[in-house]
This record gives sequence, C-alpha cells and structure tokens, in this order.
Amino acid sequence: MKILIYKNIDVLAEAFCENLIELVSGSEQFNIALSGGNTPNVIFQTLSDKYSRKINWNKINLFWGDERCVLPEDKESNYGSARKYLIDNVDIPEKNIFRIKGEDNPDEEAERYSQILIRNLPDVNGLPKFDLTILGIGEDGHTASIFPDQMHLLSSKRICEVAVHPSTKQKRITLTGKTINNSENIFFLVSGKTKARVVSKVIKMTGNYLNYPSYYIKPSNDAVTWFLDEIAASELKN
Ligand code: 6PG
Repeated sequence: MKILIYKNIDVLAEAFCENLIELVSGSEQFNIALSGGNTPNVIFQTLSDKYSRKINWNKINLFWGDERCVLPEDKESNYGSARKYLIDNVDIPEKNIFRIKGEDNPDEEAERYSQILIRNLPDVNGLPKFDLTILGIGEDGHTASIFPDQMHLLSSKRICEVAVHPSTKQKRITLTGKTINNSENIFFLVSGKTKARVVSKVIKMTGNYLNYPSYYIKPSNDAVTWFLDEIAASELKN
C-alpha cells in the first residue's frame, strides 16, 4: 500500500494524471474502471484540460466500478459525469467506452455487464482483471457501491451485483469485492475534511474499521495507492 498526500485536490489530480500516464505508457491496451461521485470530476477535468494530448486514447478502455440505476442523462449518473468532464473532451473512440446501463433492469444489467467484462478483459484467477480500478470512499466507509449493510458484496462469487443505497434506497450496479481486488492497480482518490476520519480509521485500522467495506480492498499484490489531499489526510498524522 502507498499513501500519497498532496496540498489540495488540484495538485492531487495532476499527480493522478502523471501516474496514469506512466501506467498506460507500458501497455498495449489499458482497461480502467472509473469511480463515481464528485471527487473524480475534478480529476477528469484536469485530465481533459492538461493531459489529454499526453495519452493515446485508442489504448484506453473505459469501464465503471459502479453506476446508479438512473438514465445516463440523469445528474446522478456516473457515466453522465464522466461523459461531461472527460469523454466529450478527449479523442477516445466510442467503441472503447463500456458503460453500465443504469436505465435497464438492475438484475439483468448486473448480469449483462458481468458478461461484458468477461468478454473484454483478461481472465486472471477466474475473474476479469482491470489494469486500474479507481475508487472513492464514503464517510460510512463504503467504496464503489458496497455499503456497510451489504458486506456480502465483498465476498460474492459474482462479478457484478445489485446494491441498494442504505438511505436513498437507490439501486446501484457494483463490481463485487473479489472483482475489485483482482485489479492490477487500485487508486483511492480522496479529498476533503469529511473523509479525514474514515481514511484514518481504514488505514490505521482503528475504531470500527472492520465495519468499513473500504478496509477489505486488499488485492493480493498489495497495489493500493491512496491519493489524499492534506485535509483528507489530516487525521493520519497524529
Ligand atoms: C458512487 C461511488 C462512490 C463514491 C464515494 C465518494 O457511485 O457514488 O462510486 O463509492 O466514490 O461515495 O463520493 P464523493 O467523491 O462524491 O465523495
């Protein structure tokens, strides 16, 4: 595990882009699972504005680690956000974009997307393998759409599952813990004061960290990198 701390989200975003460019440069094809929520939007905008010409987008295949069960045009859509802040601003071929269809029947889409991953990703350990999975963390310790009241999604034998947001009851499609942990690289991108407590508990293994799904993101190669801004890392130091 690596912990990288940056002054603010903008510097963090540039560091992420530099790391991504380095990872992509060594690959013929690069399969990346994007996270959702708000944090990635700054990252995507930085990638679009400052680094888009430094990446051969023909090599990049975009997937998602989770998606809300909404229309792609919905402001809640992770695909919709990636489209707005990244995809529409770079020369990535449409054929390289593998969105989760949040508008379709959740159970059917979880199965369809699992098949998409099987068909388009290398099979390692009997699971599709991403070159990079980007993750965020919720204040409740969730990651992707694996929430503390649905810990079974961490050990599910399926590639994707249907999850339910604990308070909004919104349905989600999510990669399971096993699929996430099969990734070659995992980057947590975390910014802001509200995440300082949960980041500290998960990384330092204190308090009720065993209740946090993020704690169980432990690929066998230990290739987890936490990209934190100083305020999100502020409880790590003491
Ligand atoms: C989602 C995510 C989720 C997100 C965290 C952090 O679909 O919401 O994948 O796991 O990464 O909730 O979200 P923020 O970046 O908005 O804090």
